[in-house]
Amino acid sequence: MSPARLDVVIFGASGYTGRFVIKELVRISRHQRWLRWGVAGRSQVKLDIAVQSACSPDERKFVRVITADADDESSLRLMCAATKVVINCCGPYYQCGEAVVRAAIDTTTHYLDVCSEPTFLELVWVKYEVAARKAGVLVINACGLGCVPVDLGVLYLEQCFNGTLNSVEAYLVSQPSGETYKRWPANVLKYSTYEAAIYEIANGSKTRQSCSLKFEPELKPRGLLHKRFNRWCKPYPGADEAVVNRTQHYFYKENNKRPVQFKRYHSSPFFLDSILALIGSIILWMICRVFCMSKFLIRHPRLCSLGIVTYGDPDESFMRQLSFEHTLVGVGWKGEPRGQPTDEIIARVYTVGDNAPYEGTAVVVVHCAITILTARDKMPSYGGVFTPGAAFKNTDLIQKLNEDKLKFEII
Ligand SMILES: NC(=O)c1ccc[n+]([C@@H]2O[C@H](COP(=O)([O-])OP(=O)(O)OC[C@H]3O[C@@H](n4cnc5c(N)ncnc54)[C@H](OP(=O)(O)O)[C@@H]3O)[C@@H](O)[C@H]2O)c1
Repeated sequence: MSPARLDVVIFGASGYTGRFVIKELVRISRHQRWLRWGVAGRSQVKLDIAVQSACSPDERKFVRVITADADDESSLRLMCAATKVVINCCGPYYQCGEAVVRAAIDTTTHYLDVCSEPTFLELVWVKYEVAARKAGVLVINACGLGCVPVDLGVLYLEQCFNGTLNSVEAYLVSQPSGETYKRWPANVLKYSTYEAAIYEIANGSKTRQSCSLKFEPELKPRGLLHKRFNRWCKPYPGADEAVVNRTQHYFYKENNKRPVQFKRYHSSPFFLDSILALIGSIILWMICRVFCMSKFLIRHPRLCSLGIVTYGDPDESFMRQLSFEHTLVGVGWKGEPRGQPTDEIIARVYTVGDNAPYEGTAVVVVHCAITILTARDKMPSYGGVFTPGAAFKNTDLIQKLNEDKLKFEII
């Protein structure tokens, strides 16, 4: 790898997430003065504006701006060859992601993204594992708030438990508070996230490679609605269950370690909210899968979402009021793993900051990049496609996040 390379380049830096990642890199490079970084994207003008609004005039001089388009592979290779680590914030990933992974592997550049699209995560793993391994490149997907809190959260519970964990159930609480709760949530969901979600519902693979290993006693799903911690809980179809299962599968294969079984739920204090969300999800699934109308949903996002989806930036006052917190309940044995689990441990993983989902995502992915640059010797010595848990387990990433804005604590 050429020493003249930058340390980090953010691709898709002019987008909503990309701009939070810029802010985070500016903040961190004020302490880590060795860090040399740049931004990349298809519009030089938008990139310049993004850099200007985040950096002081002195700082701007050191930020390299690179134009690259996800549809132009040679521009992606030039971008990747200019850096040691590329952070891909360009979405939806099913459209823009694969070419960037390929360019990173071709140019021996470590690759990170904040993807939460299960089909894309699966595609990268199945298609690029061998090439990444041969090239000695780390391809680490899902380094955002969508998956890291639970993936690292399960590892954190294991570290603190001092025994053998049989299973973990995670409960996400993500809801607006104060005045925003009473308002219709207009303009709060980014179009790129909505588009990816609709694509996933319509096309998500039913033959996904399953990594969930069954151990006795088996962790059974709890059905469509159950009550726990005084909240109404329903299954949550995110990418994180697959990511946690892959991490556990990795350590089972590498170290013959007994995997922790995992299920995740979304929870709300209000019965009506949960029922409406459940009915909404079923209707959405039917529109996409039974009536095959996903293209209509993608073409008319404002109409179909009743104004929830926005092409611009999400409503800032809503985002500021949005909490993002997981409760992780682990059960297992302090002694010999035999019979039903006898002991329990509970952790809270939550963000602090102004805009929990996006600021949290930026904090996580920037710390992942810094960890690759500073603690490569504590990560898998070979390349490959990894989950965050598999890649960072032996580093101090959890501690670094804890000192920053993603908190892990035992309750
Ligand atoms: N899981 C998580 O924790 C998490 C959190 C946040 C975001 N995300 C994901 O991150 C992705 C980005 O989200 P966002 O809200 O930042 O979206 P966004 O504001 O729409 O930004 C998308 C970015 O991608 C760029 N882009 C699109 N097509 C491109 C192409 N062909 N070539 C080069 N650049 C291209 C856009 O460039 P222009 O500005 O030139 O249009 C923009 O910079 C989404 O997939 C979202 O789901 C995940």
